[in-house]
Amino acid sequence: MAGSEVRCALSLVNHKGLTHDIWCAKKDLFSRFQLDPHPGSLPPSARELRVSLVPVTSVGEKSIRHAISERGPITFAEFMEAALYDPDGYYSRRSRTGAEGDYFTAPHAHPAFGALLAVQVWRSWQALGRPREFTVVEMGAGDGLLASDITAYARRLGPEFVASLRYLALDRAVPPATAYPVMSFPLAGGRAEGGAQSGEAETGPPLPAGVTGCVISNELLDAMPVHRFVIAGTQVRELFVALDGERFVETPGAPSSPEIEERVGPFVAALPDGFRGEVNTGIRPWAEQVSHVLARGFVLTFDYGHDRAALYSPERSAGTLRTYYRHTLGQDPFRRLGDQDMTAHVDFTAVDESMISVGFNRLAYSTQREVLGGLGLDDMVERLRSAGLSQADVDANRAGMLELVKPEGMGGFKVAVHGRGVPAGGIFGLAGKAGEMEELPLPLLQDFKPRHRISAAAHTSAASLPTWEELFSDR
Ligand SMILES: C[S@@+](CC[C@H](N)C(=O)[O-])C[C@H]1O[C@@H](n2cnc3c(N)ncnc32)[C@H](O)[C@@H]1O
Repeated sequence: MAGSEVRCALSLVNHKGLTHDIWCAKKDLFSRFQLDPHPGSLPPSARELRVSLVPVTSVGEKSIRHAISERGPITFAEFMEAALYDPDGYYSRRSRTGAEGDYFTAPHAHPAFGALLAVQVWRSWQALGRPREFTVVEMGAGDGLLASDITAYARRLGPEFVASLRYLALDRAVPPATAYPVMSFPLAGGRAEGGAQSGEAETGPPLPAGVTGCVISNELLDAMPVHRFVIAGTQVRELFVALDGERFVETPGAPSSPEIEERVGPFVAALPDGFRGEVNTGIRPWAEQVSHVLARGFVLTFDYGHDRAALYSPERSAGTLRTYYRHTLGQDPFRRLGDQDMTAHVDFTAVDESMISVGFNRLAYSTQREVLGGLGLDDMVERLRSAGLSQADVDANRAGMLELVKPEGMGGFKVAVHGRGVPAGGIFGLAGKAGEMEELPLPLLQDFKPRHRISAAAHTSAASLPTWEELFSDR
């Protein structure tokens, strides 16, 4: 939602800690207050200066403001839906992943992620009796890198498997350049860029129904709009978005959906007053859609999140809503509308309950580190040294592979596996036999599409951080 007209909120904090808010047009900022934004140039009486810029002229933002002025406060989920998915929302406009984007996901770290998922799909196919047609539906496929890596590695796993594999990559907001054909498809209540409604493809064939295979998603559920709430005494109050003059502000009210109280209610007594959190009501409709697609097979859900008791626990009192802009983490969703990503941790208890309610069994709930280790990542890292590579290539591949399993990073992401009509016990990864893995080719950065991050340091380099000018420009 780029805006040509920008207003500035200035907060000057004096030595007594008193804050004075001032609003003005951006063009007047420095002249009117004779300020220079660099440190050391504050007015003598100011201890601190905070400035935020609010673009006000984009179509999407105007429609949010219009909706609020017509209907009153809107849910945060409506606000997030517009900020991320409106035609000029974040996912429709920005190149969001990779070094020039705002964040990295596992497929960007190293092709080993896609290769190991290909191995998992291959094992699933074997476990289901090698069906002649085996369909993988990837939901929220983004730039198609995972789809590209899985299908590329699948070709190395035998002609019979490849002949049976049909891979469908879907996303509601398809980036302009993708590594694999991604079909524009709005899941679970969303609208696609072209206006197609949920359950209806904008281009290509409709969503398949009743297939045998796998449904895969990586970081899909965290990108769905969430409702926000606050605990006030013993009550759950939803946090709506309202306007105070030009500014978006939060305003508490009665929850807009019974699901909010159903999920949070059991934890209220143990949570401190003022506890804030999020509820994603899109999980259940998503599970229904998965059930429509998959008659028999496995559902693999990779994302960051927790079971519900951990999500709504005092240690997460400020909630888990986060923003990403140029690899910089933030917490203010009202800034840079349409230019920053928004995300919230996934309630994996809701994933489990929803999948069970539509007829699936829970097969595993684990971490990315455990699952990739079980599929053979450790062996792959070991084999790099004897693969005849230059030291630079060994280092780059090793760094990318280890990024996938860092305990404080992606390694701690959760993996939920559900199944229907599948044999009981042990196919999930997890029957990883070291000997069998050694037979498989090593997935190397240089052999795959050049969209993967080349070095573990790339995303933290100063070059990828926003400059003062970028942070304070209209975009
Ligand atoms: C964080 S990105 C992850 C992309 C990709 N899976 C990856 O790992 O790089 C989330 C993706 O989910 C898509 N998405 C979110 N909600 C969706 C929905 N209801 N239907 C289809 N795609 C959706 C977004 O458009 C976005 O491309």
